[in-house]
Amino acid sequence: MRVLGIETSCDETAASVVALDGTSAPEILSNIVLSQIEEHAAFGGVVPEIAARAHVEALDGIIEAALADSGAKLADIDAIAATAGPGLVGGLIVGLMTAKAIAAAAHKPLIAINHLEGHALTARLTDGLDFPYLLLLVSGGHTQIVAVRGVGDYQRWATTIDDALGEAFDKTAKMLGLPYPGGPNVEKAAASGYATRFAFPRPMKGSAQPDFSFSGLKTAVRQAATAIAPLSDQDVADICASFQAAVADALGDRVSRTLTRFRLEFPGKAGPALVVAGGVAANRTIKATLEALCAEAGFAFVAPPLKLCTDNAAMIAWAGIERLRAGIAQENAADFVPRSRWPLDSVSAPMVGSGRRGAKA
Ligand code: KG4
Ligand code: ZN
Repeated sequence: MRVLGIETSCDETAASVVALDGTSAPEILSNIVLSQIEEHAAFGGVVPEIAARAHVEALDGIIEAALADSGAKLADIDAIAATAGPGLVGGLIVGLMTAKAIAAAAHKPLIAINHLEGHALTARLTDGLDFPYLLLLVSGGHTQIVAVRGVGDYQRWATTIDDALGEAFDKTAKMLGLPYPGGPNVEKAAASGYATRFAFPRPMKGSAQPDFSFSGLKTAVRQAATAIAPLSDQDVADICASFQAAVADALGDRVSRTLTRFRLEFPGKAGPALVVAGGVAANRTIKATLEALCAEAGFAFVAPPLKLCTDNAAMIAWAGIERLRAGIAQENAADFVPRSRWPLDSVSAPMVGSGRRGAKA
């Protein structure tokens, strides 16, 4: 089975071909990602209209490159899988309409994929993980812990009640005058800072409610920065280090709570695992915190290669393969309308404000 995947939900234009022959491990035949970061950097965040136009300009060439790189012709492809939500609707329309056109012209089945499902299933492409497992998704638009129970069977156990974690990094960077995207720059500055100089709050730590919150922390950072302005480089480094320590601590508390819940809900599961996905998973302090927690709780810590953790189309093609294999691809995907909001778990009630201001809200 060979599936062409297309991803355009935010600021990456991506296409990929993934193959599965049924006997060996799946193979990523090509994986092309074009980042638009430079086009958005001047604005300090993703501008939806610029993103949509950039997808229109780039997508055809990216798909051609993905096919050429894979060595497959369109005729060799068994299905087209495209991200149909959640995300910025302009980009989603570009990707899904292109996929519909290719599918119609080449007489191939089309599969509309939930972007979050792509992240959720990546660990099965990279590490062959068995269900069930836990997924921590920490990106610019999402902060969730999901129990991945099967293909199409997801339970959201925690989400943010305000900002996404990547968004908190980006806003902190902006307040401190660091360039976009903020996460890597905050981490870099933090390396030469004192993490104990500022006692920032650890939002939700110890709370019986499983969710995340980062807006209070962001406010505390702003107040600390305003109180000591103008900021020296050392002040910026100290604020970044203290912020990062608070984030790691708060995140660790929330994750450790869900590891306990996982043990209770899946008592027979041998070799339980926590998978991380999303750009924030690149942060070494956060990664080290999670690794230590997992080791202590007897969980495997699975961090797929960063280029498959951040937005890409291989995860979309793979989700297509998983759906085809499980026999749960939609029958009328050609009529599918892109959804800017599309929860993975339709049972858990949406949280007021959860990630609403994120790039992917
Ligand atoms: O997954 P991703 O590439 O795109 C989205 O789906 O949002 O994640 C981007 C987010 C941005 O908010 C960025 O600041 C954050 O991930 N990020 C980081 C680091 N690298 C990227 N946050 C903290 N530390 C990092 N090293
Ligand atoms: Zn994503």
